[in-house]
Amino acid sequence: MQSIDEATVLITGATDGLGRRVARDIATRGATVVLHGRSRERAEAAAREIRGETDNQNVSYLLADLSSLDEVHDLAEEFMARYGRLDVLVNNAGVGSGGRGTGRELSRDGYELRFAVNYLSHFLLTNLLLGRLKESVPSRIVNVSSIGQAPVDFENVMLEAGYDGNRAYGQSKLAQIMFTFSLAERLKGTGVTANALHPASLMDTKMVYESYGYTLSTVQEGADATVRLAASPDLEGVTGRFYDGEREARANEQAYDPQARERLWDLSEDLCGGLLTPDFSQDG
Ligand SMILES: NC(=O)c1ccc[n+]([C@@H]2O[C@H](COP(=O)([O-])OP(=O)(O)OC[C@H]3O[C@@H](n4cnc5c(N)ncnc54)[C@H](OP(=O)(O)O)[C@@H]3O)[C@@H](O)[C@H]2O)c1
Repeated sequence: MQSIDEATVLITGATDGLGRRVARDIATRGATVVLHGRSRERAEAAAREIRGETDNQNVSYLLADLSSLDEVHDLAEEFMARYGRLDVLVNNAGVGSGGRGTGRELSRDGYELRFAVNYLSHFLLTNLLLGRLKESVPSRIVNVSSIGQAPVDFENVMLEAGYDGNRAYGQSKLAQIMFTFSLAERLKGTGVTANALHPASLMDTKMVYESYGYTLSTVQEGADATVRLAASPDLEGVTGRFYDGEREARANEQAYDPQARERLWDLSEDLCGGLLTPDFSQDG
């Protein structure tokens, strides 16, 4: 990757929790940091605070509700219009499993909410930004997943039957890892790498307080592991891996099934409809 102080880094869900801390830590190193948020007020406040905390004035923000694929599409367009390079894309935004009694929720497009926000929005965003990533090689995609994983049941992806918040969250997180492995394969030789990680267990963030009511680790532990994948020179060229913190780990078996991965990719393209222009036909 370009040395970090010359890099441009886009982080989704950077208004709170892990994403906000990762944004601050990367801004501290002098990168141009683009925060993504869904609320103008929160995004503006996060950008202002991070500029103040780091003395880095190259911290800006873009808005999109990731439960709308149209807004994801507009986010990608706006990014392309405003920024000439993309060295690191950190796909971090997410919705947790929800507390006790949280029922099935739908995205603005009518898809199961966790699958839509945690996985599908990032599938679309990443594909739409691949051209910029390829122009900026060597570049990196970091998908913030989890060790909480559940296999994708292709007969019931939208969890119309037997909804459970943990299953919904776990399915979306495994889908991210399957996507990571597919991307790494498709991007072999291009100079764009793709890795996924479980940042840390039950960090002290809003998502964890809402879902569990207690925490086991700090957001800084997860941020350190995430920033390492985004920026460490030791990981140059490393691709297609899943990490638990800083240790390479094995994901749920379904992630290693090429047919399941292909099926998920095809389904995701279908669900994105006309918004997706796959970029894999382009050279380098
Ligand atoms: N916390 C943990 O222990 C843990 C463990 C493993 C993996 N993870 C993963 O780490 C990532 C960050 O989690 P966190 O704990 O930092 O959660 P968090 O504090 O709740 O932050 C989530 C971020 O995602 C954004 N977001 C949620 N729904 C969105 C939507 N529809 N459109 C746009 N943005 C949306 C939130 O925006 P607002 O500020 O507007 O709400 C916020 O910026 C997630 O992918 C999560 O699955 C977390």
